[in-house]
Amino acid sequence: MDIRNRFEQHGQGHVFQYWDDLGSDEKAGLLEQAEEIDLDELDRLIATLVKATEVHSEINYDSLEPALYERIPEDLENDVRWQAAKQAGETALRSGRVAAFTVAGGQGTRLGYDGPKGTFPISPIENKPLFQVFAEKIMAARRRFECDLPWYVMTSNVNHEATEAFFAENDFFGLGGGTVRFFRQGRMPAVDLEGRILMESKGAIAMSPDGHGGSMRALDRSGALSEMELKGIDLLSYFQVDNPHVQVVDPYFIGFHALSDTLMSSKMLPKAYEKEKLGHFCISGGRLEVVEYSDMPDSLTVLRDESGALKFIAGSIAIHIVSVDFVRKLTKEGSTLALPFHKALKKIPYLNASGELVRPTEPNGVKFETFVFDALPFAGEAVIVESTRLGDFSPVKNAEGVDSAKSCRADQQRLFAQWLMAEGVELELDEEGVPVHKLEVSPLFGYDAESFSESWKRLGESVDFSKDVYLS
Ligand code: UD1
Repeated sequence: MDIRNRFEQHGQGHVFQYWDDLGSDEKAGLLEQAEEIDLDELDRLIATLVKATEVHSEINYDSLEPALYERIPEDLENDVRWQAAKQAGETALRSGRVAAFTVAGGQGTRLGYDGPKGTFPISPIENKPLFQVFAEKIMAARRRFECDLPWYVMTSNVNHEATEAFFAENDFFGLGGGTVRFFRQGRMPAVDLEGRILMESKGAIAMSPDGHGGSMRALDRSGALSEMELKGIDLLSYFQVDNPHVQVVDPYFIGFHALSDTLMSSKMLPKAYEKEKLGHFCISGGRLEVVEYSDMPDSLTVLRDESGALKFIAGSIAIHIVSVDFVRKLTKEGSTLALPFHKALKKIPYLNASGELVRPTEPNGVKFETFVFDALPFAGEAVIVESTRLGDFSPVKNAEGVDSAKSCRADQQRLFAQWLMAEGVELELDEEGVPVHKLEVSPLFGYDAESFSESWKRLGESVDFSKDVYLS
């Protein structure tokens, strides 16, 4: 068999070691996985990322500079540039140029939750899952901007069926099945520290999602990209499934992008503390780069300017506007703009030489991933727009502590309290600024201060805040 020979030639013949013991379904499954692997590419990755003693970096840390960004003006309402951006963003939304795009293919290992992360219950009273929070924000935006605003959700082999089933069971949260489109990202084999492909069973290679950078290729291969072009959608509002605070479509941000010549824009937050686990927006060799928190040398993370502020303060919150044209350009046959692979050392269950499954307690293998922000250097002019923490970012990543469900639910309530207090409501807060009685606002009632204020004024009835309150 030709494919077996190819694996032999690349030193990966063991993948078919148990071939004769496999049933026909298992054989078909293994062949399908094997066909997906580009062995030449894998050889290159093993040589450069697994076996190389020194990993080559494009980034010269000695000359790294912080990237500039659009600061939120003190008087936002009267700032000519920001208001022009808002208007341009609203126009783009009203004319149906925008789609929402969520990357939801990750495995959620740190959270310790079994199931697609988007099904994780996160709202403080109603326990709405992440997907429902986004769905309601999308619905609210559709109503406000009188547009179709379709939603593209990237899944992976790990969670595709479960994600689709979840939406079907919940009647697509009222969005209409035809307006939510799911597609799978690609996958990559994991290898051991010598570069041998790891097997998770006799008939299956240990494969994992190829990173959120895989979203570019997956948009193209799934046909989603052509579909968007036909519908006249040219802007993708990109966000991660782990962040219920995100403004799924933010007119200011969309507008800054639309008014510029860039092909990809990003939102930033000033880092809250030196070691906050955010990528850093930097300029390297004249181009915008995000340097991951794990790659940034400590000496730069702690550096401060004359005013005492962190020098590399601009943290990436993984919210972008991506032009559809850009995805086309990146994925075009023969494009030289390939996103680089990164390696992640992981504990990967594997079949040992005697054919037994081993669950390692120490990292034993390498997974390969591409990152979407590695497209930024190819996007032209750097457009980075500041946001507010409560207004856009409080992710659910860990089971406990920072960026956990607990911290996220507290942040949601801080935000809702902020909106209410701006309307003159007095609330009892604890010493951490969280309302003593639970508070939840449906995105259909209000998804930002402005929309909340409108609904609140229309409500015209008094609300008793001495008990838990859900405004919907
Ligand atoms: C990520 C960013 C970091 C940013 C932070 C903000 C990376 C490498 N780093 O960190 O710069 O500051 O978010 O929260 O992304 N995903 C897929 N497919 C995959 C892998 C991931 O769809 O193959 C999705 C996940 O479902 C999740 C998101 O990408 O929504 C983030 O992935 P994760 O690996 O958790 O990134 P972080 O380390 O938290």
